[in-house]
Amino acid sequence: MLANKAHIIVVGNEKGGTGKSTISMHLIVNLLKDGFKVASIDLDGRQGSLSKFIQNRARYIEKHDVFLPLPEHICAMPANLTSAEECRQDIEQLEAKIEELSREYDVIVIDTPGSYNHLFLAGHEYADTLVTPINDSLVDLDVLAQINPDTLKVEAPSHYAELVWDIRKKRATKGKPQMRWIVLRNRLAHLKTRNKGNTEKILDELSKKVGFFMLKGVGERVIYKELYLQGLTVLDLDEDSEVKIPMSMSHVSARQEIRRLVSGIGLDKLVLNRAS
Ligand SMILES: Nc1ncnc2c1ncn2[C@@H]1O[C@H](COP(=O)(O)OP(=O)(O)OP(=O)(O)O)[C@@H](O)[C@H]1O
Ligand SMILES: [Mg+2]
Repeated sequence: MLANKAHIIVVGNEKGGTGKSTISMHLIVNLLKDGFKVASIDLDGRQGSLSKFIQNRARYIEKHDVFLPLPEHICAMPANLTSAEECRQDIEQLEAKIEELSREYDVIVIDTPGSYNHLFLAGHEYADTLVTPINDSLVDLDVLAQINPDTLKVEAPSHYAELVWDIRKKRATKGKPQMRWIVLRNRLAHLKTRNKGNTEKILDELSKKVGFFMLKGVGERVIYKELYLQGLTVLDLDEDSEVKIPMSMSHVSARQEIRRLVSGIGLDKLVLNRAS
């Protein structure tokens, strides 16, 4: 069992392209700017979106000689064509790393791949808080629930919701506190559409059935992607920042969206509880 100082946030969904790495980057930068000691782990080392973002950020700092906070970052590369033995070694290395980081940091943010593998599962098992971004589409909802096409009623939880359920049971048998599960709608259209209304209703019904809570989502905004190559986020653009990029209304709204996520996770309370 871990010394468990850090609060571990896993950003996961068994579905590609839902915004896991984008949300991870923004969470990390926001938490660092709030003064938390943050470590990050990229369990999708083969694609490495989060790791490249952090490398880009380090490069930007050096090139422009500015101060920007950086997390301690680990990139985990799952063994190729894995044997059971190789999987076991990968998992042991990950556990040792989490244990070490957990003693030193307030928060560990873990970005996961969009499909199941041994590291995906092992990472999820450490989640004190699981944040699941989903796009506003019935295709994305499919990993959470089987939905009746005629009535749009939830018939049963799907594979990812079942995986989370199994992990929760496992944590309970180990005496660990219950994992909190937050579902976050991402890339929301700015106009009200029929699809948006449908997904909202389905998620509302599902949240009660499988035990997650919803936070107000994140809109579709260019600012969430256009600073990637510089390793920057909209959170780096305050008036007193050394990064000089003018803020627009959309930037202000984007910052509010990320801050709402951080305050919804409630880290201030969680980290203080742990320290006491
Ligand atoms: N809120 C948003 N507004 C605009 N673009 C976004 C938003 N969120 C994510 N994107 C874009 O959507 C694409 C997928 O996002 P991202 O790579 O974060 O997803 P992912 O879930 O990590 O994908 P994968 O499963 O492949 O790791 C990227 O091009 C990203 O820039
Ligand atoms: Mg990703």
